[in-house]
Amino acid sequence: MCGIVGYTGKREAYPVVLKGLKRLEYRGYDSSGIALVNASLKVYKKKGKVSELEESVIGKDTHAHTAIGHTRWATHGEPSDRNAHPHRSSGGKLAMIHNGIIENYASIKQELLKKDYEFKSDTDTEVLLNFIEDIKLHDHCSTEQALRIALKRVVGAYCILLVDEDDPETIIAARKGSPLVIGIGKGEHFLASDASPIIEYTKEVVYVNDYEIAIVKPDELVLKNLGNEKQTPFIQKLDMELAAIEKGGYEHFMLKEIYDQPDSIFDCLRGRLHANAGTITMSGVENHLPALINAHRMVMVACGTSWHAGLIAEYLFEDLCRIPVEVEYASEFRYRNPVINKGDVIIAISQSGETADTLVALENAKEKGAFIFGVVNAVGSSIARLSDAGAYTHSGPEIGVASTKAFTGQLVVLAMMAFKIGYAKGSIDNKRYMHLLTELNSIPDKVAQILKESAAAVQSVANKYKDARDFLYLGRGYNFPVALEGALKLKEISYIHAEGYPAAEMKHGPIALVDENLPVVFVATKDKYYEKIVSNIQEIKARKGKVIAVVTEGDTIISEMADDVIYVPDADEALAPLLSVIPLQLLSYYIGIAKDLDVDKPRNLAKSVTVE
Ligand code: M6R
Repeated sequence: MCGIVGYTGKREAYPVVLKGLKRLEYRGYDSSGIALVNASLKVYKKKGKVSELEESVIGKDTHAHTAIGHTRWATHGEPSDRNAHPHRSSGGKLAMIHNGIIENYASIKQELLKKDYEFKSDTDTEVLLNFIEDIKLHDHCSTEQALRIALKRVVGAYCILLVDEDDPETIIAARKGSPLVIGIGKGEHFLASDASPIIEYTKEVVYVNDYEIAIVKPDELVLKNLGNEKQTPFIQKLDMELAAIEKGGYEHFMLKEIYDQPDSIFDCLRGRLHANAGTITMSGVENHLPALINAHRMVMVACGTSWHAGLIAEYLFEDLCRIPVEVEYASEFRYRNPVINKGDVIIAISQSGETADTLVALENAKEKGAFIFGVVNAVGSSIARLSDAGAYTHSGPEIGVASTKAFTGQLVVLAMMAFKIGYAKGSIDNKRYMHLLTELNSIPDKVAQILKESAAAVQSVANKYKDARDFLYLGRGYNFPVALEGALKLKEISYIHAEGYPAAEMKHGPIALVDENLPVVFVATKDKYYEKIVSNIQEIKARKGKVIAVVTEGDTIISEMADDVIYVPDADEALAPLLSVIPLQLLSYYIGIAKDLDVDKPRNLAKSVTVE
């Protein structure tokens, strides 16, 4: 939620920061802006996407070697030029960008209003900035000291970058709850919400921790805690290539990421799954095997698409490991005072590893003594670091706001965990275990086959139904969460109302929606519910609904009944979601395209939701 970029060094700062903002635009695109510090401080900002800022700056003076930039997902104050970051302090010498929410901004604002401060925006950020300036003036202290004093009063989450006209080579950064990475170059430093704006220039990075302040100059990086004690920066090497964050010839990131899946799933399996030898190597699981095997219950904590992965994990762990599972929306779990007992295992699922609700839910659970296992894509992210153990999904950077390859990566990690734990526990026998491993091994090829053979069919279905007002998605068993995921994808990418439901539950209410205008997507691959779902399809057809069915290749029964059919290869039902979700991702993509929508940056959304 909001992307921030900073640069100080020998290069022209404007192009570096502008390019960085384009890389971070997936985090929010309501407005963007840049502050440049040279002999004086210049601030350019604009409502809308970064390209609109770029256009508005043409012909203006952009010369500077230090700059900070921001791309916004609006929280306090509507998307507009005046609410865009950076904000400039009342005295005009300081400029600041911020990712997060200052929860007690209203009381601080009241204090400042009494001192005759005037505000040009509706944002909490401008309040914090003027608060810093006020402390600086009244306590006669440095900007850094004023920031430290101010942050002790602040309730909420932040990653801020602050520049001072009187100290043009320095960027002061601070973090609590919102991510910040600093790239270390030769005589230059880069700051960003994630590594994607940095990777082009350096692979040496420092992930700043909560409650740390960084004083960044071209030749120097000083890290301190809020108590002003110096901290030793932990320099890490980025394991990421520039190509991974570029479109690679595809028109959209979303399509590229859908097509990445044979490789991203393979990368997730690489070095872990040894199907012939009958082994799965996952050090995060092995090091904590007794805790996992003997778990009294597992609680999946996640949001959005990751929550759907958690629902599928519920089927996996209950079916194969005989461990009771609950699946929790992180946003509810964090506030509900949940009961957590010794022997419970919390599994946190997150692509970004920065989702605020998930992060705080885990912090609360940890305080209650829970053991936390993280299933995370973003290496070094907050959730990964908070977890007691974990397994990365190795899906690579996911830029499109709609989660696609991260979802299948999560499913693969969760499946491997369930297979390994179930076998170690003795709740699945050797025959079933070996079969599951062989099946998992074949998934990348089967995903490639769907992409090759079914994409055209999905596109023609998309064109046929693109003007529908509503969609219903139905599935049973392992395919029920896939129906939910299909509906979520359609909503976010095409702005068509869609509901996912267990197919059998449909007759308890949603069936009232069915008429000749309602497309109903059935996820109906061959499994133990097959006969039942055939009956559900007939119930829809009897009411003239239009049936689009995702079925197993070779299916003849549903193919006869459905209006449109999309085939996927056969798979064990525990792994079926890895295949059945692919046509649903493509369907939402092609409907979005047919409606001429920005599929990579759908309205109102942001990739990484770092506010609650
Ligand atoms: O980064 P996370 O996996 O924690 O994100 C959770 C959700 O915000 C995310 O899955 C969201 O629902 C996606 N836009 C779905 O495509």
